[in-house]
Amino acid sequence: MKTSTLLFTLAVLLMGCKDRVKEKPNKEPKETTYTEQYRPQFHFSPPEKWMNDPNGLVYNQGVYHLFYQYYPDDIVWGPMHWGHATSKDMVHWEHKPIALYPDERGLIFSGSAVVDKNNTSGFSNNGEAPLVAIFTYHSMEGEKAGRTDFQTQGIAYSLDNGETWTKYEGNPVIGNNGIKDFRDPKVFWHKDSQKWILTLVAGDHAKFYASKNLKDWEHLSDFGKTQGAHGGVWECPDLFRLPVEGTDEEKWVLIISINPGAPNGGSGTQYFIGDFDGQKFTSDQKEPKWLDYGTDNYAGITYNNTPNDERIFIGWMSNWDYARNTPTQKWRSAMTVPRELSLKKMGDDIVLTNYPLKQLEVLTSHVLAENVQMGSGASDTLVVDGLNQSQIELETASKNFTLIFKNDLDETLELTMDANNNTFIVDRTKSGSVDFQSEFGNKKHFMPMGMLNDGTHKIKILLDWSSIEVFMNEGVYVMTEQLFPTEPYNTLIVQNGSDESEIRLESIKHMESVW
Ligand code: FRU
Repeated sequence: MKTSTLLFTLAVLLMGCKDRVKEKPNKEPKETTYTEQYRPQFHFSPPEKWMNDPNGLVYNQGVYHLFYQYYPDDIVWGPMHWGHATSKDMVHWEHKPIALYPDERGLIFSGSAVVDKNNTSGFSNNGEAPLVAIFTYHSMEGEKAGRTDFQTQGIAYSLDNGETWTKYEGNPVIGNNGIKDFRDPKVFWHKDSQKWILTLVAGDHAKFYASKNLKDWEHLSDFGKTQGAHGGVWECPDLFRLPVEGTDEEKWVLIISINPGAPNGGSGTQYFIGDFDGQKFTSDQKEPKWLDYGTDNYAGITYNNTPNDERIFIGWMSNWDYARNTPTQKWRSAMTVPRELSLKKMGDDIVLTNYPLKQLEVLTSHVLAENVQMGSGASDTLVVDGLNQSQIELETASKNFTLIFKNDLDETLELTMDANNNTFIVDRTKSGSVDFQSEFGNKKHFMPMGMLNDGTHKIKILLDWSSIEVFMNEGVYVMTEQLFPTEPYNTLIVQNGSDESEIRLESIKHMESVW
């Protein structure tokens, strides 16, 4: 063989070895009517099969991408793929073919996505900024063999704004030295150091890494072994900077999901307020702060590259305590509505608030009730037909009241403000189908509210066919809960437990379906 032919053959062979894995041919997403029992009307849910964490939240060229942990063959958790949907307005969603499939390195666990504007990765050959997804490979073989290094971090890129994906030939980009839980990389571009910063979780703490090209990563520091909640494993971190409203200060926020160990059982999301200097995250905070006191807001992360730098958060509206057994048939699980995160000063403290995006207001249509004054001391009953899927807004000077949502089968959900104990209570124990698993309906859920201020409380409630989201004082206190009433609730009863103060029901508006 001539030398030149030999060299050519060798080159071809080498290129073949570099398993540049192009994702499998696209399977078209299945059609559905979105009218099945319990089907969320204005929350994202997959057309069919199992979904958990949101992944790869990124905005690019007018499109908000939502990738998600997806098992396309069953309605229980299984070998993970990245499902995909896109939105232009964060209200309506278009289902896309599966973006990432498991391969010989493992299943595709949670992670993030960035727009590599300067092509630091060198993946682009067409002048387009590549979208780069950074995810965890989970090797089932490794896990089954009892090894501890079965989770590693890999990357994939897209040169057509998320339509098709190619896995990087040099994966994994972060190997594992024997840490059993080592996952969920969240990456962002850190302007000050002109580097990509990656946060991942390693069992009971977070680890930070830096890179110039998304391929070579240097370990920077760790955080959290002795801070915050540690009732379970840390998952799905997110690190970002936000202005503190009403000040010229900025703070860094580290979000950490934890399972189990949440205040009302199972999975929950804590956060730390602190500083990040490009190397280290520091926070004085010893005790956990909770982003949501409800049982159903987990593994949430925020968007990269939003048009005006808004911090938009989406969480998985479920809980590992019972997620696999909720009584839906065709699909399982939904996402929270997208929420904007902000930092607010409360006395000496800084809190992270989360509140539905303004855009969701486009879904409010006919008014079911407006400007209703509920008398003080009285047990006023307001019956609203077709409550069903609605947005409820009220203002109250009363610090003792109960809202009862009810259907014709007498299934009820009760929300109570208890001023004596500075507590807000969700009681879903009689809310409909509750006994599919004892952890779902066996107890009331509590949210401590600090000292209640003297002023009025503003409450916004989003009720969908199988969830309720309660936002008090513009997202300072939040509870997100799944519900499975046999029929949607059509009646709201407001009971004022205070002799002096009134409750003003601003409005109840029907929410249109987005499907
Ligand atoms: C969180 C989580 C992640 C993991 C993924 C697997 O719900 O356990 O830590 O990457 O789900 O589906």
